[in-house]
Amino acid sequence: MSDTGRTVRYCAPGRVNLIGEHTDYNFGFALPIALPERTEVSYQPDDGDSLVVRSDRETAPVRLSLNTVPGEVTGWAAYVAGVVWALQRAGHRVPGGAMAIARGVETGSGLASSAALECAVLGAILAATDQTVDRVEQARIAQRAENEYVGAPTGLLDQLSVLFAEQQRAQLIDFRDLTVRSIPFDPDDSGVALLLVNSHAAHRHAGGEYAARRASCERAAAALGVSSLRDVQDQGTQVLAAVPDPEDARRARHIIAENARVLNTVEALQVCDFTEVGRLLSVSHASMRDDFEITTPHIDLIAESAVQAGALGARMTGGGFGGCVIALVDADRADATSDAVRASMRRSGHREPTIARTRAGRGAGG
Ligand code: GLA
Repeated sequence: MSDTGRTVRYCAPGRVNLIGEHTDYNFGFALPIALPERTEVSYQPDDGDSLVVRSDRETAPVRLSLNTVPGEVTGWAAYVAGVVWALQRAGHRVPGGAMAIARGVETGSGLASSAALECAVLGAILAATDQTVDRVEQARIAQRAENEYVGAPTGLLDQLSVLFAEQQRAQLIDFRDLTVRSIPFDPDDSGVALLLVNSHAAHRHAGGEYAARRASCERAAAALGVSSLRDVQDQGTQVLAAVPDPEDARRARHIIAENARVLNTVEALQVCDFTEVGRLLSVSHASMRDDFEITTPHIDLIAESAVQAGALGARMTGGGFGGCVIALVDADRADATSDAVRASMRRSGHREPTIARTRAGRGAGG
């Protein structure tokens, strides 16, 4: 069947994880929202055996063979090649053609720009070929592209967020059974602003720290005789007394306590208690700083300055070691808090962060 002759447009957003960090590959819980910023793919299929991909952030296009295999394409186009590869491995048809990508989600900021790109490419190919694949399976295909083609050992958080997001809602994801529950998230309606503070300190996942955290959690689970930390969630953090390695035990303590915080955040959101949500965000940040050790002094300072300036709470969001901080603040204090954070970063010799008020946006779509 020929798919030529039409141009398909498909968009996918970035995401902010409100709470539940590094819980995804531990089969726990997370609560992300999508950002209004979106990556857009324009795809014109043809009958050829290669795909020519252009990005508005790059000067040169990349031509990739439909028979591409891991290792062949690197850099930004590896995410596209990975989706082409993973879709075919899952038994789906991928035609050749021309693809133009407008990347609306900043890269290296912990906002899941990779998942936005993967899911936009995937959605464009499925739409152009009239193939239907459910969203959980789409997320798995995009994850396979990232894990096996790009080589980043990430979980399913980003792809599920991007695919399931809805405006003014957050998604409670249970990674054990991959179910997603839609939770009202509209701080504006309660006179509260969600600030996104971009440190501009870039982070990376293919690097060793992400994999090291994953390995630590796996060792802790093995020491407890279970296949994942989720299996001991109901026993609380006391169970970790039986983990011999103190570092592994601290990593696992973050996961078990973070899962409980996600569920507590959902309860607080259901009664619009943003004071409690803010408190949980700050406790989560402390846990990422002290137990999971994925923050940096720069990021800690942003979160602390926001709280000192009156935010209800603040935490780093995303994989760690840089990227963005989110802060919840009474709307009438949003500007003063942003000014205070900028001033504090200037005083400490850091690059001034970009601070913007953000909202829960819609998920991937045409
Ligand atoms: C990155 C990964 C996700 C998840 C987060 C941390 O965004 O891609 O799978 O592990 O880090 O919560």
